Amino acid sequence: MRRRRTFIYSIQIILIASLVFLFYFVTISDKNLFKQGFGKKFRNESSSSFPRQAHLLDNYCKFAWTEPMDNTLKKRLKFPKRAGCEKYNIDLFKRYPATGEFSMKSKAHRNKLECVAQVLKGGLRPAAHTYQLGKTQTFSPKLNKRFWINANNFILTCFSGQLVIYRKQFMGFKMDENLKLVVDGPFEIPEPEAKILKSGSKQFSISILGLDSTSRAQFGRHMRKTTDFLQRMGSVVFEAYNKVGDNSAVNLIPILADELSETENMNLLDETGDVNLNKILPTKTPLNPDTIQWIWKHLPPEYITMFNDDVMHTSRGLFHYPPDNFLDGFGESPARFYYRPYYNHLYSQLSNWWRKCLDGELLAEVFIDSWFRFERIFSKTPHFGFTFISSLTHDDPNNLEMLDHTLFHRLDYLNRTGCLENTILIILGDHGNRVHPLNRYTFAGKIGRFEERIDKLDNISEERAPYLSILVPPRFRKQFPEKYRNLRENSQRFVSNFHVHSTLKFITSLSKNLESSRRNKSLFELQPINSTCQDNRVISNHCLCMVDASQDISKVPNSESLEEVLRTYLTDFNECFNVESLQCGNVVSSGFQIQQDVKKEFQTETLMPNNYVQVWARTKISDSEVVRKKERASAVRPKFDKNQFYEKFQVIYPYLTCNLQSKNGDSVEVLTQFRLIQLSQNITIPYPPRLSVHSPSQCSHFSFPTDYCNCVDLLLAV
Ligand SMILES: *[C@@H]1O[C@H](CO)[C@@H](O)[C@H](O)[C@H]1NC(C)=O
Ligand SMILES: *[C@@H]1O[C@H](CO)[C@@H](O)[C@H](O)[C@H]1NC(C)=O
Ligand SMILES: *[C@@H]1O[C@H](CO)[C@@H](O)[C@H](O)[C@H]1NC(C)=O
Ligand SMILES: *[C@@H]1O[C@H](CO)[C@@H](O)[C@H](O)[C@H]1NC(C)=O
Ligand SMILES: *[C@@H]1O[C@H](CO)[C@@H](O)[C@H](O)[C@H]1NC(C)=O
Ligand SMILES: *[C@@H]1O[C@H](CO)[C@@H](O)[C@H](O)[C@H]1NC(C)=O
Repeated sequence: MRRRRTFIYSIQIILIASLVFLFYFVTISDKNLFKQGFGKKFRNESSSSFPRQAHLLDNYCKFAWTEPMDNTLKKRLKFPKRAGCEKYNIDLFKRYPATGEFSMKSKAHRNKLECVAQVLKGGLRPAAHTYQLGKTQTFSPKLNKRFWINANNFILTCFSGQLVIYRKQFMGFKMDENLKLVVDGPFEIPEPEAKILKSGSKQFSISILGLDSTSRAQFGRHMRKTTDFLQRMGSVVFEAYNKVGDNSAVNLIPILADELSETENMNLLDETGDVNLNKILPTKTPLNPDTIQWIWKHLPPEYITMFNDDVMHTSRGLFHYPPDNFLDGFGESPARFYYRPYYNHLYSQLSNWWRKCLDGELLAEVFIDSWFRFERIFSKTPHFGFTFISSLTHDDPNNLEMLDHTLFHRLDYLNRTGCLENTILIILGDHGNRVHPLNRYTFAGKIGRFEERIDKLDNISEERAPYLSILVPPRFRKQFPEKYRNLRENSQRFVSNFHVHSTLKFITSLSKNLESSRRNKSLFELQPINSTCQDNRVISNHCLCMVDASQDISKVPNSESLEEVLRTYLTDFNECFNVESLQCGNVVSSGFQIQQDVKKEFQTETLMPNNYVQVWARTKISDSEVVRKKERASAVRPKFDKNQFYEKFQVIYPYLTCNLQSKNGDSVEVLTQFRLIQLSQNITIPYPPRLSVHSPSQCSHFSFPTDYCNCVDLLLAV
């Protein structure tokens, strides 16, 4: 009895203590009276234990981010849904996209058609720009009966009597030495390797789909269906990805190849202190593409490889020119499926004038289907595929739109048929668009202006921020949850081509059951926030980290108008914030405060994309050249109305730190980047502001307003 009473007392005491504790906790904890040990315990038990969500504005590099629908681009944007390719010749055959099988569909020719299949060979040094004709086989296709061609590159020619009524080049798969060239019946998808099917296997296939001259913003605006699909699949798009050099080769070499033996002994920096471009791609030592240590050379022998480069011109190709950089092409086939003979034949037929359409087909779709077939057929076999489509987007970035529908459907098909289960899919641009007026003459197109042509360009960034997305399959996420999380977080970190290489290296090391990468940290490891362009080996001329603009602006942006824009922005989050409580610092357009932990001092700053870089230039301009240009610019200034000079040609990015209360009682610090066009004084917020919640609560690790507010809404709803 006594025992029981003691027990009840104890319970009561515990209950009361808990209530007192709870009261204390609710009323006082907000006032920050919880210190150290107690606070830690608190954090452990009821606040989120997640590290703070990464945010673009965390980076020391203040990255010049561009919106997909940037205002300055609007006039030049087009959204051509259809290519409207016209058909001039009869289409004798239907080709099945997923397998490459053919069937004759022309009733007119019934069973009396004579055709020839002929192998295309060549595309190798010393005659990489040509093709040769190989073995042939004549056959008579039957109406609606399937057949396929056992060759990688081939032509089909059909006759009616003496007359050639059909002739066309194709990419395919040579599957079996012992089979004839023309194989009747359906194509049989090869039996999966037992090894990769084991759920515990760490082997993954790699599929790289490259789209020439495609920037992140451009992909977002023209590939809307594809973007939406990839997002639903959990693909990660890198928001602060900076190319290292100017054109395709110098940007793809650091992704696809190990450090070159020719450059091993070179310094990382050149004599001017800039990143040494020659170390990335030497200009005076022509490389032999055969001896380059391509990433796929490190894969175990069971990996099936494909190299599919839309060369656009028989004298070109990714690693074929100019002669200063490369010997003229591969001397031996770099992959089991090598499609240069096809492209050489095609572009010879077109007299080396690339076009969008051929005979009713969008050529880029034909090229992409070769990627699609490879993924479909070898989905269960370890494989590495590299596809690069140049012609569609090289000259006009708007053309990308035409590929959206097809790429979306191909991806959807691959997903639904389970063909992406073992594959890491990387879609990337080598750089943004370089040649179209969209990028040469628009602000968002270029970061940088010509001082000499100040009337033409203020016009600055897509060109330097290529698209990069990485999709890892659920099996990878299950095996490496931490790595997948890092990958997502790194979407907000400042990274470059070298990180993609390390990432590929990590995947190839898995293929050999090693889990290490000798090169630098891959995108599966959390990247630091303090990387500079030099760390990322980005040539200063292409560096997207903004510079202090305080000397280049006529007047300090007015903090009230910035605050007003933020207030309006936050009204979308009315449910979650007490917008009236917003209090902002002053705009001080002083030097750039770099220390991230001194947040209180980091009131605001005014930055702009580096004006002193050159469009088209492959290397940076020297510091003395920058000085010269600055002097020249001031000398030129009197010709212009001063205000006009400043205001017309300046787009600046002021930053402002504000504080605000959330509806669940958090006190929230908001760091906002604004974009101010001096001429119109138009102020926008191009990227979601960054939140830092100092009081520990369940939502305090979120940095993006949308995520934070979803969390707060849920809390308040309970
Ligand atoms: C509490 O946090 C500490 C330090 O972060 C950690 O080591 C510990 O495992 C956590 N305890 C619980 C119960 O989560
Ligand atoms: C991908 O395929 C899976 C399985 O069929 C399906 O559940 C999922 O919804 C698909 N994803 C998308 C984005 O369509
Ligand atoms: C950019 O350049 C074009 C072409 O010279 C010009 O029409 C335009 O006004 C410039 N500025 C912007 C912000 O696009
Ligand atoms: C890796 O990073 C270190 C410094 O962290 C640097 O010295 C080295 O050059 C980098 N290696 C490569 C291949 O980028
Ligand atoms: C970047 O931060 C890391 C630690 O996070 C530090 O070791 C490194 O020295 C820093 N680099 C620079 C350039 O400040
Ligand atoms: C600024 O630009 C935005 C986006 O186009 C537009 O909606 C807004 O009306 C502009 N504001 C002013 C003051 O011109």
